[in-house]
Amino acid sequence: MIDLDGLAEAECLPLRDWTPARERMLQEVLEGLQRTEKSIPSKLLYDARGSELFERICELDEYYLTRTELAIMEDHAPEMAAQLGPGCLLIEYGSGSGRKTRLLLDQLEDPCAYVPIDISREALRQSAETLALLYPTLPVLPVCADYTGRYEIPKTETDALRRVVYFPGSTIGNFTPEEALEFLKHVTEVGGPGGGLLVGVDLEKDRARLEAAYDDASGVTAAFELNVLARINREFGADFRPERFDYESRYNDLMRRIEMYLVSRRTQQVRIDGVEIPFECGERIQTEYAYKYNLETFARLAELVGLQVERVWKDREDLFSVQYLTWE
Ligand code: TRP
Repeated sequence: MIDLDGLAEAECLPLRDWTPARERMLQEVLEGLQRTEKSIPSKLLYDARGSELFERICELDEYYLTRTELAIMEDHAPEMAAQLGPGCLLIEYGSGSGRKTRLLLDQLEDPCAYVPIDISREALRQSAETLALLYPTLPVLPVCADYTGRYEIPKTETDALRRVVYFPGSTIGNFTPEEALEFLKHVTEVGGPGGGLLVGVDLEKDRARLEAAYDDASGVTAAFELNVLARINREFGADFRPERFDYESRYNDLMRRIEMYLVSRRTQQVRIDGVEIPFECGERIQTEYAYKYNLETFARLAELVGLQVERVWKDREDLFSVQYLTWE
């Protein structure tokens, strides 16, 4: 079931709303917490507070990803824009602060429209309004949705020569490889024949560097993760006591992924919508994975669903990559 509010009221920018209904989210939460290996859907991390905390993560010394990707965009945006070509419709998944997008939009030749899609309504509205102000001639058409779910791309006045999905931040690494395949297939459908995908992909590197990036010394990452429990309390009437959980993460080098958990500090019961969820001392809730790829493993994954890597841009230290993929 999809809650179709239609167009939410806004002073200037209409927001198309395809966010999943509360009831459905509650079912997902309950289902995840009733498994033997408990989990919480990671999209719940991004409420208004979560999006704010995530912006702070992006500025941390330990979190090399954002500044490295920004530097790659700064150095190569003109080549990227040339690769995307003129007249393209730029669709962005998870709009964030818009800094990387601006670097790209500054270089694109006659883009036909910009469609940011984000599940966090406040963050989406803010970044869309800023971009609309900065690019007065560019149609900015925000869509509030879970981009892995159902939504429609708004109609544009002029036809696009090509649809390009922009997916920065190595968010593709937050999918399991199976989910990533599903996602890539979905992108080819959204983009249509001759479309493209410009995607940020974090690369394998030493454990110490990876682990520091996902568990910073000042505790912002822990606060970001624990915030999901407060959100579940607020939106679904649960009675989590966040102080009874610890944030833990580690790099699993067999699986090439960072694993993030909330660990119960004691035996306890939590109640959600009349359902009792028991926790043993030390029992974990898995919140998120962050898979790391190398150029080969990523290209092979993409090829499985018919995407070709056309170009790869990296920083000097080979920490991070921005890649352009196409399909027929
Ligand atoms: N896409 C980001 C990443 O994989 C998401 C992220 C960064 C994240 N830091 C986090 C998610 C900490 C959960 C916790 O790097």
